[in-house]
Amino acid sequence: MDNPNKFYITTPIYYVNARPHIGHTYTTVVCDAIARRQRMMGMDVWFLTGTDEHGQKIERSAAAAGCSPQVFADRISGEFRGLWDRMKITYDDFIRTTEPRHKRGVQALFKRLQERGYIYKGSYSGQYCVSDELYVDAVGPGAPCPECGRPTETVHEENYFFKLSAMGDRLLKYYAEHPEFIRPETRRNEVIAFVRSGLRDLSVSRTSFKWGIPVPGDPKHVIYVWLDALANYLTAIGYGSDDPADQQKLERYWPADLHMIGKEIVRFHCVYWPAFLLAADLPLPRSLFAHGWLLFEESKMSKSRGNIVRSETILDTLGQDALRYFLLREIVFGQDGSFSFDALVQRFNADLANDLGNLSSRTLSMIARYFEGEIPYPSASARADADDAIKNLAQQTIEDFNAQFEQFQFSRALETAWALVAAVNKYIVENEPWAVAERDDKDSRARLATILHTSVEALRVVTALAHPIIPEATARIWDQLGLGEIQELDLRQLAWGQIQAGTMLGKVEAVFPRADKSMIERMQQMEQQRSEATLSPKEGEKAGAPGETKTTAAESQTAVGVTEPTTPVAAAPSAAAEASKIGIEDFLKVELRVGEVKVAEKVRGADKLLRLEVDIGTEVRQIVAGIAKAYEPEKLIGRKVVIVANLQPRKLRGLESNGMIVAASLGEEGQPVLAGFLEDVPVGAKLK
Ligand code: ME8
Ligand code: MG
Repeated sequence: MDNPNKFYITTPIYYVNARPHIGHTYTTVVCDAIARRQRMMGMDVWFLTGTDEHGQKIERSAAAAGCSPQVFADRISGEFRGLWDRMKITYDDFIRTTEPRHKRGVQALFKRLQERGYIYKGSYSGQYCVSDELYVDAVGPGAPCPECGRPTETVHEENYFFKLSAMGDRLLKYYAEHPEFIRPETRRNEVIAFVRSGLRDLSVSRTSFKWGIPVPGDPKHVIYVWLDALANYLTAIGYGSDDPADQQKLERYWPADLHMIGKEIVRFHCVYWPAFLLAADLPLPRSLFAHGWLLFEESKMSKSRGNIVRSETILDTLGQDALRYFLLREIVFGQDGSFSFDALVQRFNADLANDLGNLSSRTLSMIARYFEGEIPYPSASARADADDAIKNLAQQTIEDFNAQFEQFQFSRALETAWALVAAVNKYIVENEPWAVAERDDKDSRARLATILHTSVEALRVVTALAHPIIPEATARIWDQLGLGEIQELDLRQLAWGQIQAGTMLGKVEAVFPRADKSMIERMQQMEQQRSEATLSPKEGEKAGAPGETKTTAAESQTAVGVTEPTTPVAAAPSAAAEASKIGIEDFLKVELRVGEVKVAEKVRGADKLLRLEVDIGTEVRQIVAGIAKAYEPEKLIGRKVVIVANLQPRKLRGLESNGMIVAASLGEEGQPVLAGFLEDVPVGAKLK
């Protein structure tokens, strides 16, 4: 049943391998702004978000944290939900892929694909990127993933396959007939080129690990995490349930109107997902939009790069509207854009504290002062051309803002609205209501009323338009305007001339306190403290009894930012060393493991540092080590090293370092020489 008044919008469901950062907030805030606006346009909105909790990546992250995948997922999923609640994100449902309703739905979808002849048993042999949870064309063990560059792993196992190769023509036909299906255009073209180059069947189950949804009737297999994850858009609204209420919900909201995603997951959403749906004979989503990346310190903000900024820091200082406004105003939607605390504070001060903040406080406080807080009546006799110019601009602003917002041009839409703010501020300065108020005659009184009436009406229009983007501040301004609950406004009806003269203002107060320069530093410090305090040491297994292995842990301390030099365990005892001897229980706290270097590269702008990716058996760790002067990165690849595996992560040059490489330290300079083994040792082996 097609219901033209419904609007079903989704965010990606975020992986629970790491806590949320402002990259996740970006997508969620954009969806929230769209959802809020659609509701104000009278639509029956369903806004879904959630967390993606299965798969090898999560299983390993949990193992590294020393807890079960479920406990781990509960914790991080809770953080996402807690953040969205704190930000008053207006999601209607939050799905977790470990919920029974989801498992049941995924199994139903799998069965349906099987029954329709799209699934067969085969065997897969090739490379897999655990970080992207993607089968890739790379050749050979450790070959870099073509998408993210991380080392891939060889998978050789019996799998179920989905007949993706049979779907190419149907997909191409669908893209051609639905030009709005994939946006922006550049992504659409990439997808079409990818499908045209030929599709191979897709492995949709795994047998070498357990953390997933079992294949119905063959529980040795777990369903491929992307088939599992994509199905959330259906299972969350009742797919796979017999309950009539669920079936009604599915009828009411499917197909989704908009899947909002980041550009790195286009293939899954624009090729695999529609292929699964076509094969299952289910309607396809109406549209997908793939936005660009939020960059920080010149690269994509991501947990694995360690260059993240948390929303909490901004919420604790400038508030959520500042973050929301920045993300939608500063970044051209669809393209990559940079985040910096500097730019954030600048935007906040210029656009919110100054432009909108001033318009609001000067207009409202003049009405309070000159008209005892009652919105004044304009008079025809006191009208000037300047008033009409504001009126015309405001009418044009409503039209342009709506068109631009609808075209996902959030930045332009806000620019449009703020051009009106600037024009009204200029109008106020030029018409000098404070000077008019000095003249105590009837005409001046009428002129003053007209100027303030015009200003306050323009303020109302801007406030209404900006509400979905900056909900908190606009709700407060609306309240000060004496207009009640802003959510109840019908945006379709918004037009010039609706403000009611005679309405009493609420209590007038500033909505955006200016931020001074020290705020930037404060936010940077808060980020620093957060990354130190909240990442607790990994609670891995404790090392066993000590053997004869002598390790000198020195990773060029200064270069990697460790402040306290470590006393070499093997040093000859001196009085000082005697005093600093540690008990065995202290030594046992250190987890030493054999790792293999998979990736090694120089760190830009840091001549002592190398960025390494070290496989330690349970996971691949990023470690930043001060060994660049002693080792060429290429020579390290494949080398077995000893690492301290349970160190608290630290950030070096914006990169997160998860552990420390053990090396001897020679001479004054502390030249590092890596510890190693004469015999072959397996990756992940513990030293004790
Ligand atoms: O991919 N810039 O989850 P994920 C912009 N579980 N957006 C960013 C961003 C950045 N730097 N970092 C993250 C997954 N995002 C899968 C999705 S859906 C069926 C399964 C946002 O935790 C952006 O929306 O890696 C991106 O696509 C998403 O978070 C990836 O989140
Ligand atoms: Mg990702």
